[in-house]
Amino acid sequence: MNAVHPELEARRPDPALGSATLEAQVERRIAARTLDLPVLPEVATQVMNMTAEEGCSMVALAGVIRRDPAMASHFLRIANSPAYRPTSPVVTLQQALGRLGTGQIRQMALLITCKARLFAVPGHEREVRALFQHSLAAALFSQEIARARRWNVEEAFLCGLLHDIGRPVLLQLLVDLQKELRVKGSADTVAAIITAHHARVGSELLTHWALPAQIAETVLFHHDPGGAPTFRKTALMTALADDLAHALLESKQIDEAAVRAHPTLGPLNMYADELDALLAKRELFAKTVEAIS
Ligand SMILES: [Fe+2]
Ligand SMILES: [Fe+2]
Repeated sequence: MNAVHPELEARRPDPALGSATLEAQVERRIAARTLDLPVLPEVATQVMNMTAEEGCSMVALAGVIRRDPAMASHFLRIANSPAYRPTSPVVTLQQALGRLGTGQIRQMALLITCKARLFAVPGHEREVRALFQHSLAAALFSQEIARARRWNVEEAFLCGLLHDIGRPVLLQLLVDLQKELRVKGSADTVAAIITAHHARVGSELLTHWALPAQIAETVLFHHDPGGAPTFRKTALMTALADDLAHALLESKQIDEAAVRAHPTLGPLNMYADELDALLAKRELFAKTVEAIS
């Protein structure tokens, strides 16, 4: 192999310097709130607004969704997935919307938008796909925990789905920032920045998208549910769903002893029979994640 010319060697970015610059820049931009956060696309915004209104028309909604063909085909795929147990195949968009109902349409519009726009970082496909699968599994577990407690299942689903949304967003921002600053941070530095700041960046993104304050606060405190000032219970629920999702997808088998000793169970008043019912859904959730991702 040819030796690198000493002049070229001298011009190569110093990875230690690059990592320090990158870290300092991200921290400065987060503190100054000057990070360039993605906007919620037009069709998703309209679906969110229309489904929030009483007596929302499915025909009008289908008309809006059809403007985004990728979203329309995703709705069909989701309505036909195992979680919705269709008794006969759903073939038209209107059928799919009718089957889902307005609450689920809101969830799915966000799910599809996040998958297409945010869990999409060129050059990092495998990593963001795994992140999306983790988020979806957490959404399904959260929803189930909320159902048993008679809490709002739609919000619970979104708390799980969006708890780590700061991760792909920060990853894309870091890719862009390295180009802009002409520096190269090490893979460890990039991972450490994402781990340190994803809860805050995710929460700010959701506030920027005008999602309910409960979801933004839950995302901010999903690694420290005891610190949540107003919505501690949803933060606890999301922390449990987060760990269950890791256990389901990463080890392919849930460590039941660890789950039964999870620190959130007491504060959530979750009894053994409820936990059994939750764990009984794991195969269905794994299949749903596979079908949707
Ligand atoms: Fe997280
Ligand atoms: Fe997570």
